[in-house]
This record gives sequence, structure tokens and C-alpha cells, in this order.
Amino acid sequence: MNKLALIVSAALGAAVLAGCAGAKQEAAGPGGNPFATASFHEILTKDFSDKGQAKVSRLQQTQSQYECSKYAYLGEKMPDAVAKEIESKAQAGVVYPADGKYLGDWKAGLKVAEDGKGMQWSDKPGSPNGGNCLACHKMIANDPSQGNIGPELYHYAKLRGDSAAILKYTWARIYNSEAFNSCSYMPPFGAHKILTEQQMKDVMALLMDPNSPVNK
Ligand code: HEC
Repeated sequence: MNKLALIVSAALGAAVLAGCAGAKQEAAGPGGNPFATASFHEILTKDFSDKGQAKVSRLQQTQSQYECSKYAYLGEKMPDAVAKEIESKAQAGVVYPADGKYLGDWKAGLKVAEDGKGMQWSDKPGSPNGGNCLACHKMIANDPSQGNIGPELYHYAKLRGDSAAILKYTWARIYNSEAFNSCSYMPPFGAHKILTEQQMKDVMALLMDPNSPVNK
């Protein structure tokens, strides 16, 4: 889930906790979302405002975020057909490296993985973004500050090898994780242009290079 999706779900959670029992029956909110009620939008627009490059328009969900929030809100399992459609659309949108080379420089990749900056109001628009991988994944030894929202990636290539299939899978995962999991919490680094192609290659090298701390 990207940061905004997290904010949206947190706000949605707060609205539910605040006792909006009749929320499902309320009129559709702006954007026509049947579950995003007018009162929910009021909370959002009251509490958030444009600041620098961080615009309130970011709270507009993508179609897949909308579907995922909707079924979570209704407490229903997303129908397989809807999930499949999100996944195949994401899969079809993956852009593989133009030169066919997946691997860059793992040292640069480590910096991207550690860097949580970018796209915030206080960041200079157009400056490179970080990937913040370590916030969600354990990737290296002896660093207790790493997160566990995502699975451990320590010894990634050591455990899985570096076959063409693994390279392709890993690239697509980083490009848009929705290609494998319709409601993935992992930010779509390529699809939403969070990382550049070179940064993605560097992060790939971090996961795949036998000399990178991931595989030590
Ligand atoms: C907000 C949390 C979050 C961030 C940040 C994040 N990931 Fe993930 N990642 C996940 C989750 C959760 C999964 C598990 C699958 C899913 O939910 O789709 C995952 C799965 C993966 C997988 C597949 C693992 C497997 O077992 O096949 C790879 C590879 C991966 N992430 C790499 C990265 C890289 C590289 C970065 C940084 C550029 C990154 N992730 C940033 C949450 C995150």
C-alpha cells in the first residue's frame, strides 16, 4: 500500500471507529465511490491541504485501490475475477529494461533501499526518490531498524538463484507488485514512476549480486 493509501485506510478506519454505522447507506461521495461517503470526504478535505508538490488530489484512488478499499470496507472477499483483472492489467503494464539488462550497481541500490525521502512537500520536486525498501523488508544482516511489513529478502539470490525467470519476476514485482497480488501493500515503483529505470536496476543488483550485503 502506498503512503496515501495508508492514510486513506487510516482515515476510513477512523470514520468507522467514530461510529458511522449508517455509512454504507449514505450518498455516494465525490468521485462516485459508493463506499467513500460525503462525511468521509469532508474529513479528508478538512484535514489535508495542498502543500508544495503534495497535493490533495493524491487522495484520489486508482481503480485498483478503490476496489481493494471497497471490499475491505464491505468486509467481503474480492471476487477472483476482479483480482485477476487487476493483476493481468498490472502485468501487461510492466515495462522491462530497454537494453535487456536487469542489473546495475548494488552499492547505489543499497542507498536507494535505505532512502525514505521523496515526493513529500518538503522535497525538491524532480529530485530523486528513495525506495524505502528497508522500512518494510529485512534485506541485510544486523540492522534491527528494518521493517517486517513485507517478507524477508535477506539472501534473496542465494536462496532463489539468478535465472532469467527470477530476474524477470523480481523486476515485475518491483515495477508493480499488483501484477502478483491485486491488493499488494508494496508501492508500484515503476508504474507510479517512484524510481527511475536506473534506480530499479541498482536495487535489482542489490538483491541479485553475490557480493551485495543481501547475499552475504
Ligand atoms: C510499504 C511496504 C513495502 C515497501 C516500501 C517495499 N515493499 Fe517489497 N513487498 C512488500 C510486501 C507486503 C510484499 C509481499 C507481497 C505483497 O503483499 O504483494 C513485498 C514483496 C516484495 C518482493 C517479492 C518477495 C517474494 O517473496 O517473492 C520483492 C522482491 C520486494 N518486495 C522487493 C522490494 C524492493 C526492492 C523494495 C524497495 C525498492 C520494496 N520491496 C519496498 C512491502 C513493501
